[in-house]
Parts: sequence; C-alpha cells; structure tokens
Amino acid sequence: MENNNSELVYEKYLKYLNPSLARLMKVSGCANLESEALGCAIYDNLGNRYLDCLGGYGVFNFGHRHPRIVSTVINQLNKMPLSAKIFLNEPLAKAAEMLAKLTPGDLQYSFFGNSGTEAVEGALKLARLYTKKPHIIATHNGYHGKTFGSLSVTGRDVFRVPFEPLLQDVTFIPFGDANALEQAITETTAAFIVEPVQGEGGINVPPAGYMTAVREITKKKGVLLIVDEIQTAMGRCGYNFACEEERVCPDIMVLAKALGGGILPVGVFIGTPEVWKAFEPVPLIHTSTFGGNPLAATAVLASLQVLVEENIAEKAYTRGLKLKSELQKTADEFPAFIKEVRGKGLLLGVEFINAGYAGSTMMKMVENGVIVVYTLNNPKVIRIEPPLIITEEEIITVGEAFRKSVSETVKLLGGY
Ligand SMILES: Cc1ncc(COP(=O)(O)O)c(C=O)c1O
Repeated sequence: MENNNSELVYEKYLKYLNPSLARLMKVSGCANLESEALGCAIYDNLGNRYLDCLGGYGVFNFGHRHPRIVSTVINQLNKMPLSAKIFLNEPLAKAAEMLAKLTPGDLQYSFFGNSGTEAVEGALKLARLYTKKPHIIATHNGYHGKTFGSLSVTGRDVFRVPFEPLLQDVTFIPFGDANALEQAITETTAAFIVEPVQGEGGINVPPAGYMTAVREITKKKGVLLIVDEIQTAMGRCGYNFACEEERVCPDIMVLAKALGGGILPVGVFIGTPEVWKAFEPVPLIHTSTFGGNPLAATAVLASLQVLVEENIAEKAYTRGLKLKSELQKTADEFPAFIKEVRGKGLLLGVEFINAGYAGSTMMKMVENGVIVVYTLNNPKVIRIEPPLIITEEEIITVGEAFRKSVSETVKLLGGY
C-alpha cells in the first residue's frame, strides 16, 4: 500500500535530524521514503523501483536481504542475539576461524566491533601498542572514518580541519607513490595505513605493483602495514580481498561494510600472531560492549560462506568488466564532459570535468531509476557500486540509464 508520509518525515528530518542534509536530499530528488529492498532493487513509498548502484556505500555486495544470510540471522535472533558476556560465544569463534582461513597469509586474530571507523581505531591502537611508536603515515584523499583516530588519518581537510588538533603524529603522502612512502618513514613510524583502491577518494586505482612495493618497503623498514579493506573486500574488486591481487599480506587488515552481509553492522580488525602478542598482557585492553555479538558474528560467518560458495568475487570481476565497458561507451560519446571511467571489479567510478556535471548526472540517474552517489572525498566522481549479484540484463539497464542521464545533463547544462 502507498504511504504518502514523505512530507511529514522530511519535516521531522528538518526538526530533529539534519536540516542541511535533508534539504540536500530534497533537491537531489531523494526525499521519498525508502520502503523495501530485495536483491539489487530498492522500492520507495510510492512503489517506484530503483536499481541500487550505490550498494549502501559498499554494504550490499550480496544484494539486499540475501535469503541464506537472513535465515541464519533470524535463527540466531530467536536464540540469543546479544552476548551475556560471561560464557564463550560459539558464533564468534566460528566467524573468527573462517576469517583467519580466508584472509591472506598469516592474518589470524580478530577483534569484532560495530563499524568501520571503530575497526580502524583498533588497528591504529594495536599498531602503536606493538611498535611502541607514535607516527602513522596515511594518504591524501584516503578515507578511514570520522571518529577521532580514524579522522586523523582521513586525507580530506574539509572533514578533518574543523576538529583539529587530532592525532599529532600523522603524515599524509600521495596515494600510489611508493617512493613517497619510503621517504616519509622515520625512526618513530609505527604504521602505514592504505586502501588498495581509494573508495571515497574518488575510486582511485594505484599503479600496478604499488601494494607489492608498499609491502616490501614497510617490511624492510620495520613498519606495520595496515590495509583498510572496508570497501574493497568481500569480492568487491574481483578478489575476496583486494590485496590478494598482488598477493600482499598486511600485518593488520580492517573490514566492515559487506562483512555483515548487508544485514547487520559489524567491523573487524584482524592481525598476525606476531602483532597480536601486544594485546596479551592485558586481556581487556581493547573491548566493546556490543562487539562480537552472536547476531553479527552469525551474519559474518554466513556472509563468508556465501562469498566462497557463490563465487561472488569472480562474478564481480567479470561483471565489472562488462559494466565498465558499458559506461565507457557513453564516456567515448561525451569526451568533453567525462574525464575517465575507472575502478576494479564492481568498484567503479566516473570522473566528470566538474562537480556540477557529476551532481546533475547523479540526480538524472535517480530519476531514470538507478541510484548512484558521488564519492565523499571527491564530488567530481560518481561511484557505480552495485550488489555483486547484478545480472547482465541489469548491467545493460544501468548502461542505458547512464547514457540517457549524461545526455540529459549535457542538454540541461549545455557547454562549459
Ligand atoms: C575504506 C573505508 N574505511 C573506513 C570507512 C568508515 O566506515 P564506517 O562508515 O562504517 O565507520 C569507510 C566508509 O566509507 C571506508 O570506505
């Protein structure tokens, strides 16, 4: 049944939530109510169907409400959703075991929290604790979250500067430049934190060999490598974990978003036995009340099983190539407006000549039934990040909607 409460909900956003965001959503044509979602489809309160090419910023790799993950979570919900925190927790142990088996190299010990930024906080703390050094190196335009520690290593001034002073000992270097890393390392450097592909930075793909070089340099200099796979893992870039492409094994890996199967929020940092030794002297040195709850752990285990058994990474790889070539056709047709189509697997981005063209194309895409949004650190780039189960037919639909939206934008905004 149709629900016409959009205006009432909009008023409540203005009054009780975030007025400026609410106004932005309204002008972007996104002020209907989300009402239901299944697979690659989202339905609003008026019964309109949209193809989801935002994927919850990389949460819905398995689609919305993957039946196997939903039913596993419902079973656990009916047994024990949250931990009593007194006995051992079997779902947590099983999820941690599967993570250790699936993640590259000797990554083995996991800490379960509730979000990406919280996982990054833990990784930074572990790096300092293990090395007993304060300095962290991060990349310009990198995105690691918005709590104080994560924000300190997030490479965009507009988010960071208003909250300074943050962590003092952080150096930012250009992404994709291994020499810059070598030069930035000092006696006091604990770790280098990096995404294999920058997501919010604008879907930036580093030169081939970058992650290998980064691993060699950090090893040589005795610096920990923290790979933030919050957006790139769980099949997104065509591999279970994006750093597998160059067979790189970090000291600490950070995961969240799709790890909860698109059903529950969860974030994890996983480290090698060597670095994890630092946590041993004080067993409760890093804790979270809700972290490791059986409900989220059950979702993680089911998601990892789906990832492997349904060959999700392979699907992302081949479908990513197909979707990229569909988008490229439009880029070739409008070279004066579109700078580049880039990305890996189904983490794709389209860079326009300016943020105006990107914003207008984004709104037109929504009007044309496909949801896309620009990247947080780079509004000139719209991300195309659908569920990895997207079909060939749906890819064609996205390609057509993109062409239509770009040509409508060009008509609307004219030359430049
Ligand atoms: C690479 C990366 N790291 C960290 C985060 C922060 O995750 P969360 O929003 O769950 O705190 C994000 C979110 O977009 C991300 O893309």
